[in-house]
Amino acid sequence: MRAVTWQGRKDMRVEDVPDPVIEEPTDAIVRITTTGLCGSDLHLYDPLTPFMTPGDIVGHEPMGVVEEVGPGVRDLAAGDRVVVPFNVSCGTCWMCSQGLHSQCETTQNREHGTGASLFGYSVLYGQVPGGQAEAMRVPFADTLPIVVPEGPPDERFVYLSDVLPTAWQAVEYAAVPDGGTLLVVGVGPIGDMACRIALSRGIRVIAVDPIQERLARVAGRGAEILQSGDEVPDRVRALTDGRGPDSVIDAVGMEAHGSPVAEMGQKALRLLPKQWQGTVMTTAGVDRLAALHLAIECVRRGGTISVVGVYGGAASPMPMLQLFDKQIQLRMGQANVRRWSSDILAVLEQDEDVLGVESFATHRLPLEDAPKAYATFRDKSDGMVKALFTP
Ligand SMILES: NC(=O)c1ccc[n+]([C@@H]2O[C@H](COP(=O)([O-])OP(=O)(O)OC[C@H]3O[C@@H](n4cnc5c(N)ncnc54)[C@H](O)[C@@H]3O)[C@@H](O)[C@H]2O)c1
Ligand SMILES: [Zn+2]
Ligand SMILES: [Zn+2]
Repeated sequence: MRAVTWQGRKDMRVEDVPDPVIEEPTDAIVRITTTGLCGSDLHLYDPLTPFMTPGDIVGHEPMGVVEEVGPGVRDLAAGDRVVVPFNVSCGTCWMCSQGLHSQCETTQNREHGTGASLFGYSVLYGQVPGGQAEAMRVPFADTLPIVVPEGPPDERFVYLSDVLPTAWQAVEYAAVPDGGTLLVVGVGPIGDMACRIALSRGIRVIAVDPIQERLARVAGRGAEILQSGDEVPDRVRALTDGRGPDSVIDAVGMEAHGSPVAEMGQKALRLLPKQWQGTVMTTAGVDRLAALHLAIECVRRGGTISVVGVYGGAASPMPMLQLFDKQIQLRMGQANVRRWSSDILAVLEQDEDVLGVESFATHRLPLEDAPKAYATFRDKSDGMVKALFTP
């Protein structure tokens, strides 16, 4: 089959790879009909290079049709239409039973000190073949895939794999009080969807991003918008009675623009021999923290910051004085997809497209165009906010 594979820094290629097969009795094989490109894939494209192996199949936002199930599968059958969550979670361990599927104890990567495995996401997260491919093996077939109804187009459901539960959890963790204001820093697909979810709940939303066309999308749905710049904290306070927003979502992560020192650190890391890069990254500060620092600066005293953007360095400097003095609550983590999927499915099954998911993607491309799409998405050019591939 054809699949998008990582071959080196900024080098994704669509290659012929062996078809996936049932390995465990509880596996399913899913034929992919739509698969997304995510901001998290951009971390693999460059900063997480030390943890990648040439030939790794990437991608973690797939949906499709079950082709085959193993002999131990009871509740899923060939022909079922499913979305595959980006966490590889068993659904039955203690962590999963707490709704903490991204910490699944069956798939945790203890040798790397990391949580549950993720599809298509480096040795740090289990090196599980991903979903930017014509087909994939899905373990825990009775508990992991989300069965969705026939009828609506794939665009209605495909974001259940990641964008929707991630944005949903970001809003939940932001814990905006009644009548409160939410600041969303970064309106790529995740921040954009977080704005939509918050607005659909009647929350007042202010969004900030350097890119005007991305801001225009959320303005169209009712958010107040600010273009990134030095004066953002003052302008945010001016909009919130001088106090700052009750809650802030950081939907940017470790490649934030506007962090010159850390950017130099990320570049210097690349000059080291590959076998040292991983060690340096997991012990040193290589995150660009501009977005997180902006969140800390803006949030009101006693407010909550919900960090959904991914960070990867182990010693990135944090303004502890300001965090402590402002009495800030910080919540973060990979989305626990299965924790939220039923709540979200109930919204998606309404006739009305409440969150605008069917017109959310800016690009629909053949899988063969993936290498070009990675570069376009990284450069945020051609108006690309969300790309979906058709295998
Ligand atoms: N926690 C999770 O489970 C989870 C799941 C999916 C994605 N993510 C992470 O969420 C983040 C966003 O993902 P995405 O797909 O929307 O990616 P993206 O790269 O398209 O979006 C990032 C946005 O942030 C903006 N930005 C950059 N620097 C900024 C700054 N200093 N201030 C304000 N805005 C800034 C960019 O212009 C862009 O619009 C990534 O770090 C991704 O890895 C986390
Ligand atoms: Zn994703
Ligand atoms: Zn589990």
